[in-house]
Amino acid sequence: MDQDRQKKNAARAALNEVQDGMVVGLGTGSTAAYFIQALSNRVHEENWRIETVATSKESAELARSLGLIVKDIDEVSAIDLTVDGADEVDPKLNGIKGGGAALLFEKVVALRSKKNVWLIDESKLSPRLGAFLLPVEVIEFGAQQVYRTFVHMGLHPRFRMQNERDRKKTDSGHNIIDLDISAVADLSQLAEQLKSITGVVEHGLFLGICDKAIIGSDPIKEIERP
Ligand code: 5RP
Repeated sequence: MDQDRQKKNAARAALNEVQDGMVVGLGTGSTAAYFIQALSNRVHEENWRIETVATSKESAELARSLGLIVKDIDEVSAIDLTVDGADEVDPKLNGIKGGGAALLFEKVVALRSKKNVWLIDESKLSPRLGAFLLPVEVIEFGAQQVYRTFVHMGLHPRFRMQNERDRKKTDSGHNIIDLDISAVADLSQLAEQLKSITGVVEHGLFLGICDKAIIGSDPIKEIERP
């Protein structure tokens, strides 16, 4: 089954996680967009009272355009469930996120959520993280200095570009530097090291955050965090 159909399947299956009255965190990316569409259909069919919190301007706009209630994260007292995509996921449900440059808001929302569900297709499962370049969000001031630090760490950094001339900017106006972490043995240690670099806002290693992955294969598979 192709990747896109798997994403749609996983998005539909994720509706089983949603109940009337919930506050739902909405991820970012093509799979999350399928979920937002499916959620909107269900909310309107069942006349549910659901509030959502979005992880990007893009997801907020989509959700509002489909008639969902989108709240600012500071307007809700709790987030019951967040449904998001991911770029690479290992068997323990550690993952890399940020392919869509929304990793900062995605992590803020995920860490405030009672349950995190990721929707993926089979191609994103990996025995060990590192096939996907790790996105790191870096402030504009001194970004080149942080880039040099990454060079010295042997992480082969590259600025993510919007086009040939301009760097990609996140919803917060930050840069994204993508790192090759394929040779890094201890990812928890790397996560700590990255957070300790002044100028780094957040990184796309999501370790121990996801509770359940839904793989949109036929049949659908679900993996729960051990
Ligand atoms: C955005 C993300 C996305 O969840 C990730 O890139 C997966 O995207 P897609 O569902 O389009 O494959 O982390 O920052």
